Amino acid sequence: MKEKLEAIRSLAERELREAGDRQALENLRIRYLGKKGELTAILKQMGALSAEERPAVGRLANQIRAHIEGELTARAAEIRSMETARRLEKEKIDVTLPGRRHELGHKHPLSIELDEIKEIFVGLGFDIVSGPEVEYDYYNFEALNMPKDHPARDTQDTFYINDNILLRTQTSPVQVRTMEKQKPPIRIISPGRVYRSDAVDATHSPLFHQIEGLVVDKGITFANLKGTLEVIIKRMYGEDSIVRFRPHHFPFTEPSAEVDIQCFNCRGAGCRLCKGEGWIEILGCGMVHPNVLSNCKIDPEVYSGFAFGMGLERLVMRKYNIDDLRLFYENDVRFLKQF
Ligand code: DAH
Repeated sequence: MKEKLEAIRSLAERELREAGDRQALENLRIRYLGKKGELTAILKQMGALSAEERPAVGRLANQIRAHIEGELTARAAEIRSMETARRLEKEKIDVTLPGRRHELGHKHPLSIELDEIKEIFVGLGFDIVSGPEVEYDYYNFEALNMPKDHPARDTQDTFYINDNILLRTQTSPVQVRTMEKQKPPIRIISPGRVYRSDAVDATHSPLFHQIEGLVVDKGITFANLKGTLEVIIKRMYGEDSIVRFRPHHFPFTEPSAEVDIQCFNCRGAGCRLCKGEGWIEILGCGMVHPNVLSNCKIDPEVYSGFAFGMGLERLVMRKYNIDDLRLFYENDVRFLKQF
């Protein structure tokens, strides 16, 4: 029996030395010292010993138990400090390593231009309003003097949700929404997305942006329209810009005009940018049609107004000589970084 006890001692010592973590150590504690452990099993057989042998074997068993307990405690301390060392190693931070730089973005060229334009208009006392992109046929066409079978509708084919609801083809419906809610004097611009059923190419996109303008008050004349737009265009393109008004037709204005600026690339001589014209068209405008005022319960005998609309993408393309509209939407940083 003594030999068995000594064998247990040396086996326990070896296994304890090899135990690498707390769990392994706990397993050994249960195996050697637990109620069903090896030492207990031997002590249970003590009854078979003679009365002389018993005390010596008992003493040896107790010594071995105390020894194993001591070893367990010592090994547990070793394992703890090993684990701490391992954790410290893993969590080590090298504060001398260079940091990871975050790429800093910036505003999209369309937003840069729009913000500049907004600032010019706000400086002139205009409010900025917005309207829904999913719009009623009534606001997009009907109230703007384009009844159901009006041929001008054909030039603005769009995405219909149903017979009465569509994605707006222009920002002009915001004029009507504004005049319904607000009595003159009115001075607003309304920038936003518009949609047309066009195939994508270098100059067409089913989604683009317009900026609408509307001024309504007593005694507003075409002179106010010309003066205001000239001031704004010069702020946008430079004080030396030359502006011309050309007669045109829009159903919701009468009279109507298109505004060109003299090509700032060739100074009117004709070049690739202005397609040999010497002039570049930048917006449509006119005096608000009396029918449109009446549709909004504003008396055309008392009030008059002017309106204008311009395409944001076109403005930016002209300004930076960009020849493909798709660049605005592809999010290629090599393009966007340049602004
Ligand atoms: N809505 C017109 C278009 O998309 C642009 C426009 C022209 C707006 C004349 C106006 C205007 O307010 O008076 O082609």
